[in-house]
Amino acid sequence: MCGIIGYIGKQQALPILIDGLKKLEYRGYDSAGFAVHSGEGVVVKKAVGQVANLEKAILDSSFQILDSNIGIAHTRWATHGVPNEVNSHPHTDCKQRVFVAHNGIIENYKELKHYLQERGHTFTSATDTEVVAHLIEDFINQGDDFEKALKLALNMLRGAYAFAIIDAENSAVLYAAKCQSPLVIGLGQQEHFLASDPSALITHTKNAVYLNDFEMAKISAGEITIENIRREPTDTKVVTLEWNLEQAQKGNYQHFMQKEIFEGPETVKLAFAGRLHEAGVKLGGLEQVKEKLETIKRVIICACGTSYYAGLVGEYLFEEIAGIPVETHFASEFRYRQEPFEPGTAAIFISQSGETADTLGALRKAKENGLLTLGIVNVVGSTIARETDAGVYNHAGPEIGVASTKAFLSQITVLALMAEYLAKVKRPGLLEELRNIPGKIGAILARASEIEKLAEKYLYHKNFIFLGRRYNYPTALEGALKLKEISYLHAEGYGAGELKHGPIAMIGKEFPTIALVPGNGVLEKMYSNLEEIKARSGPILAIATEGDQHISAIASDVFYIPATLEPLEPLLTVVPLQLLAYYIGAKLGYNVDKPRNLAKSVTVE
Ligand code: F6R
Repeated sequence: MCGIIGYIGKQQALPILIDGLKKLEYRGYDSAGFAVHSGEGVVVKKAVGQVANLEKAILDSSFQILDSNIGIAHTRWATHGVPNEVNSHPHTDCKQRVFVAHNGIIENYKELKHYLQERGHTFTSATDTEVVAHLIEDFINQGDDFEKALKLALNMLRGAYAFAIIDAENSAVLYAAKCQSPLVIGLGQQEHFLASDPSALITHTKNAVYLNDFEMAKISAGEITIENIRREPTDTKVVTLEWNLEQAQKGNYQHFMQKEIFEGPETVKLAFAGRLHEAGVKLGGLEQVKEKLETIKRVIICACGTSYYAGLVGEYLFEEIAGIPVETHFASEFRYRQEPFEPGTAAIFISQSGETADTLGALRKAKENGLLTLGIVNVVGSTIARETDAGVYNHAGPEIGVASTKAFLSQITVLALMAEYLAKVKRPGLLEELRNIPGKIGAILARASEIEKLAEKYLYHKNFIFLGRRYNYPTALEGALKLKEISYLHAEGYGAGELKHGPIAMIGKEFPTIALVPGNGVLEKMYSNLEEIKARSGPILAIATEGDQHISAIASDVFYIPATLEPLEPLLTVVPLQLLAYYIGAKLGYNVDKPRNLAKSVTVE
């Protein structure tokens, strides 16, 4: 949800800002803008749409690459105010002294705006962000210096923010502040970078500092000072960024989504690397809470979107392998429900970005209620990773396509490892088979062209139903989510047994079913459910296990996958669904890496 970038140092700021915006564009692409100090004061430029439009606007206006060594920039996912130039960031005050780029939502902006208007401030945009510039200006008008004015303003804000701010009267300092939205400072030699996430920094540096909530940073080329605006102690650690440049580039692929689907085998390997041992699973990140985990009686899993569906797979894994009862919740629902908690409950928070506002809110609620909190997070050093008591990293590398693909595989691999780690009696053969999974995903990907052909056949339909049972029920939900988010086609996921309780009414020759039918204990039940669809002329594309002869008599099309153990099936069955969504979206001509209305890291509620 919005990407912000800042630079101060010896290099030209503008190319660094534009390059950073491109890397952060997956966080929002409604509009983009920057503010840089030049010899003539602060220069601002904005454009509606993608960062490419901002670049074009620079070229069209014969705008020169200014001699500027300090600036801030923003790519927007609109919350308050339509995506137009006026509402684009950076925003400024009446005197055009304060320039603010913001990610988050200022919840009390209406009352602040009213207060400031009463005091004579004139607003130009419909955004919540603009109040911040005027609020700082108001304190400056009352005689405070810029830094104090900023601190006072920050203390009046409610909601979520990550700010990059510059002062037109001081070209030697960049300011940053954070509450709930992520912000990371990249450390260079006599230069500093500021970004919403590390993918925009790795071209420049491997060393970074994540700001904590209520921290504000004063950044010059040679120095950073961080202080807590509530006068609490600060906790500043320099972390080494793990990701490399190649991981954050598309390479020979047409889209990041395609690249990330094809990274599936490596992703699973990276998730189990160093964690499988003769004596079983070793999860270094859980060692510090091992004793507590031995007495756990109940697990709650909270997550959103794709991570939530991975959590639903985790429910089956934990219950069947570790024998621990589990409930998986949408983080946004868990946050506001009131339920009794018993001692011995652990809560697991799954998040690729580690910054999702709903998941973070659920985590904070769990902590307030004294639960043991664990994270399954991809982005090292992210807020959820830092705030959980312990956790396991995915090590999946950056996921840039807005639609999550490789993270799902990684999350399920980690959940399987955790289930085995917690199991008193180990599941025979599970870990051995996990080692075979990358090869089996590779075999599916080698036949991606078959899915491409199926995509050409099915893309004319407007409605789809995805069906599965047990471990493949959440996978069906994930398949439907993938299709709808990148192809804008209507798709619903159901447990196949539920079909007859209502959804079957929709089935007809224009309403295809994508069925997950691997050779497991519920295969016969799946056959029966699919016969019911066939009897009503519904086309069926089945994902079935190699050697299943019966399915071709029921389904219109079959894509075969290798056999595996049932708990690991989602790691295989989801891959054709990801490919199907990808090819349909791409063939319909959509920008699959940046689907409309979406953003990668959802840092607002
Ligand atoms: C779907 C998708 C979203 C995310 C969800 C949670 O393709 O990407 O549904 O899975 O917003 O994000 P994280 O995992 O970063 O918390």
